[in-house]
Amino acid sequence: MTQARQKQGKSVFIRTYGCQMNVYDSERMAGLLKPLGYGVVDAPDAADLVILNTCHIREKAAEKVYSELGRLKKIKAARARDGEEMVIAVAGCVAQAEGPEIIARAPMVDLVVGPQAYHQLPELLARAARERGDILATDFAVEEKFDRLAEREVDGPAAYLTIQEGCDKFCTFCVVPYTRGAEVSRSVDAVTVEARSLASQGVKEITLLGQNVNAWRGGAPAGDVGATGSWGLGELCRHLAKIDGLERIRFMTSHPRDMDDGLIAALGEEEKLMPYLHLPVQAGSDKILKAMNRGHSAKTYIDQIAKIRAARPDIALSGDFIVGFPGETNADFEATLALVEEVQYASAYSFKYSRRPGTPGAAMPGQVAEGEKNQRLARLQTLLEAQRADFNRAQIGKILPVLFEKPGRHPGQLIGRSPYLQSVHVDAPQSMLGSIAPVRIEDVTPNALAGVLVRKAEAAA
Ligand code: 5AD
Ligand code: SF4
Repeated sequence: MTQARQKQGKSVFIRTYGCQMNVYDSERMAGLLKPLGYGVVDAPDAADLVILNTCHIREKAAEKVYSELGRLKKIKAARARDGEEMVIAVAGCVAQAEGPEIIARAPMVDLVVGPQAYHQLPELLARAARERGDILATDFAVEEKFDRLAEREVDGPAAYLTIQEGCDKFCTFCVVPYTRGAEVSRSVDAVTVEARSLASQGVKEITLLGQNVNAWRGGAPAGDVGATGSWGLGELCRHLAKIDGLERIRFMTSHPRDMDDGLIAALGEEEKLMPYLHLPVQAGSDKILKAMNRGHSAKTYIDQIAKIRAARPDIALSGDFIVGFPGETNADFEATLALVEEVQYASAYSFKYSRRPGTPGAAMPGQVAEGEKNQRLARLQTLLEAQRADFNRAQIGKILPVLFEKPGRHPGQLIGRSPYLQSVHVDAPQSMLGSIAPVRIEDVTPNALAGVLVRKAEAAA
């Protein structure tokens, strides 16, 4: 790297694939690199460092990484001809799962760093510059990572905050327990410090993240009057709700097995907890749920939903679904449709089963043909889409508090979020960015609600 380039500062381009936890990790990587002089750029072409923060959950997601690496190889070669260096790092779950394979298959990669080791990035980059060999860092150092991630700078009024990582559930289709490791909770104190720092930067809404966010457990903070014993997510949310300036708290993704009464009560009672719950069920047939090792039946899930709705009647429910898991018959699939009919989702994510190497599902008999999976997915998505449209239409005429997050595409327009996590388009002055204001919903488009600002007096009437 030339002197001139170092003086101007260095640049990093980060491409993020997959879930919100990766979005959070990418932000943290950018934060770790800032003191080293790296500024974030939005294209790889002139970057000194390119990080692909990858996802391994389905085959397609993992394959995208190798095609992106093919494109980067050409850019890196062109830069080298000009005497410039570009370091390529692969981070995230593909790095964890396929580290040695990446190094063998993609020689232009300089550094492979797993999701529980990226806090070592500054040291790893120094080593990469010194050793000029392939560096593989995939140790599970999650507690050490949490210790290193105390505060950060953010932009905008809504932010993610990771409070838990990993998974001990071992659903038979899923790679997460292998790529992210065992369930680990971040301490109440560390979470509180980060939440306070976010609030002091003007953040109004935090979304607490974890692969099994409601498996979070922690000890009550020392010296907190009235706080005793072991806390679950409900207690943590009530605690964070006391932070001045924070107006909204969300959490995702929850597992039905960890949906305890304390959390359900908090959803009913704590006004800052938003009425939106992502609670994946995956399938509606008990035979398939058992084969998936989900640890719940369709009935226990539906009973749980009834309890949650009793506590918070307006809650918007969201879920994940997999069609074509090994052994899924037409009758099993019909049971999924029946469950969806019964629950009525506000939004949902649905996928074709993807055979992931090393997971028990990959070796199961009765793999479902691709054509059959396509048909089932299309039917399920039609039903889920109709439910989403119904839920959105039901908001017309209501006045909802909207947190304005960013400018819209048209001049004079802002885009915000309703309590139910819907995008809302409103004509409003830029000065309202970052604030929460009442909006009368007047229309729905396929992906958003449209509304008008309501004056406070009118909203209260
Ligand atoms: N195939 C398809 N979908 C999967 N998911 C996880 N593993 C697989 C797989 N092998 C889905 C689940 C999970 C979401 C994050 O991704 O629905 O909840
Ligand atoms: Fe994967 Fe199941 Fe763990 Fe969710 S609960 S991360 S689907 S193994």
